[in-house]
Amino acid sequence: MRLPQRVRIVEVGPRDGLQNEKREVPTAVKLELIERLADAGLPAVEATAFVSPKWVPQMADHTEVLERIRRRPGVAYPVLTPNLKGFEAARAAGATEVAIFGAASEAFSKRNINCSIAESLERFRPVADAAREANITLRGYISCVVGCPYEGEVKPQQVAEVAAALYAMGCYEVSLGDTIGVGTPAKIQAMIEACAERVPIEKLAGHYHDTYGQALANIYASLELGVATFDASVAGLGGCPYAAGASGNVATEDVVYLLNGLGIESGIDLERVVAIGQWICGVLGREPSTKAGRAIAAKTVKAGA
Ligand code: HMG
Ligand code: MG
Repeated sequence: MRLPQRVRIVEVGPRDGLQNEKREVPTAVKLELIERLADAGLPAVEATAFVSPKWVPQMADHTEVLERIRRRPGVAYPVLTPNLKGFEAARAAGATEVAIFGAASEAFSKRNINCSIAESLERFRPVADAAREANITLRGYISCVVGCPYEGEVKPQQVAEVAAALYAMGCYEVSLGDTIGVGTPAKIQAMIEACAERVPIEKLAGHYHDTYGQALANIYASLELGVATFDASVAGLGGCPYAAGASGNVATEDVVYLLNGLGIESGIDLERVVAIGQWICGVLGREPSTKAGRAIAAKTVKAGA
């Protein structure tokens, strides 16, 4: 068994992490968060979502955020675009990478983007075509790859169907979202194996929320199969507005600590990410949801004292 030598982490804190915050986070704070994460070595920082401000008020400043980022060369700043309206707005604001997001469960699709899975794929098609024409990179997400808050268990085959459709549409990568964090390693591996029959494994990414504390185990199980891209959120921020009780993504700090221990390169400066997690949690008035982050921060304080 050989694990990948290098892993790419897509930082989703500024989008997935903040979208569920009840209090409005100032645009300047979002910009500082995005820029600091890129400076810490994250190769991709998902910046915002061009979704309806009535549905997700926290992302209402999407245009300003995307326009004002001080972009670091070589770093990608993907944004969510559920439909052509969102895509056009993102393009006008300077997007060079967008993400369409579907689900493997009908009920979640309805709650999240107000349409069936089949309808969502029809909506994504013109976005994919427009992205191709504009030379904008396209990523795809699938929610509820193991379980759905409304329908319960989700079959690997259902996920594979959607993954194949997104890949055929032109997504360079399909990110597999365990939205409510119910997955455990064997289930995650079965789901990835089903997807890998339809989409090359190097085009699959893991997006695991840590609701049940399984995300790191699921990442390791995915590494064993050769998956080498994972989404993570600084300080474990986040949750989904359409999945009650869902907690944040796996913390970037925890993933980088795991990778460092395994000798897998990520190019990320762990101590800087820890400091960013401490800072943003101070601003938001919450405790960082990362064991590695808390431990490293405690050592740093002790060493400095
Ligand atoms: P809809 O109501 O079906 O859309 O919403 P519509 O086309 O009928 O339009 C209704 C209104 O929304 C209109 O405005 C449109 O202009 C406006 P009105 O005339 O009422 O004033 N509208 C938009 N405004 C801004 N940007 C747009 C846009 N589109 C329409 N792009 C829609 C459909 C998809 C827009 C809506 O359901 C929505 O915004 N949903 C939000 C979904 C979301 O952001 N969810 C969280 C992110 S996904 C996630 O977290 C999962 C992930 O992390 C993976 C995982 O963990 O599983 C990715
Ligand atoms: Mg998510």
